[in-house]
Amino acid sequence: MFVDEGDTVVIPDLYWENYSLIFENAYKGKIVTFPLFKNGGFNVEGFSETLDSISGKIVLLLNFPNNPTGYTPLISEIELIVNAIKQQSDKGKRVVAIIDDAYFGLVYEKEVYTESIFNQLSLLDEKVLAVKLDGPTKEDYVWGFRVGFITYGVKNGTSELYEALENKTAGAVRGNISNVSHLSQSLLYSAYFSEQYEADKKQKYDTLNARYQSIVKVLANPKYTKHFTALPFNSGYFMCIELNQSLKAEAIRKILLDNYSTGVIVFGNLIRLAFSAVPESKIPQLVENIYLACDEFIKKDLE
Ligand SMILES: Cc1ncc(COP(=O)(O)O)c(C=O)c1O
Repeated sequence: MFVDEGDTVVIPDLYWENYSLIFENAYKGKIVTFPLFKNGGFNVEGFSETLDSISGKIVLLLNFPNNPTGYTPLISEIELIVNAIKQQSDKGKRVVAIIDDAYFGLVYEKEVYTESIFNQLSLLDEKVLAVKLDGPTKEDYVWGFRVGFITYGVKNGTSELYEALENKTAGAVRGNISNVSHLSQSLLYSAYFSEQYEADKKQKYDTLNARYQSIVKVLANPKYTKHFTALPFNSGYFMCIELNQSLKAEAIRKILLDNYSTGVIVFGNLIRLAFSAVPESKIPQLVENIYLACDEFIKKDLE
């Protein structure tokens, strides 16, 4: 609905790879990235500069908690991000802000913004359309249900405008996937009204939170800096470690698979760890395995 051939989509440089398939392969748009991090936090400067460089309509995509890094901006950073977008609409540019909230609610640190940035963007300016995307896959832990939610918000939006958006969306859904599974929808509908829902969700959150706290603690061991350091993370399902220059992530991924029964995802020289999927008791071993695989790689390289 929002990306036509040749349109630019602004995304941080660490993103879910399906965005390339969706925006570039399917809709012939062009993804423009900016480095997600600067000085250990969200790179507001890079974000602003990238928005500045685009003339005409801006489509941008924000995904917090972010896949693959597990980063959500801090409360102090959100204000700066919102201001950067406001500066663009003040210059007369129309902005579509797509907010992928696939991991909404999974924040594990106090200073992190726990609401969706949608709340602020939907009230920001008549030229800023905020599009919030939610999926129960992660938010409600129902992998495979194939249900999604879209919420639109624009300052002073009228019911006619929202009706037009709704009709266009219905057409786009029908033209893409025909329809969502009715069984999944019905099960979720019933779950959302169940008295047990909040308690079930809290239990899953507690499990993930414990896994998060465990990986934070394990990675604090200074011995690991010999081979890798963690990128900033505070939320979500994943986190990334950055390997030291002399190491090759792809080779280490293979060593981990062959010799340590450990599966990881590689992005350039980063390794993404799905701490969400590892029992707390096995997290120390996971990190240790990576360390040992790095040692092995160096030994082999010297031979
Ligand atoms: C950032 C992000 N958005 C959306 C999705 C899509 O989720 P689903 O499995 O419900 O299609 C994923 C899944 O990995 C994701 O990481």
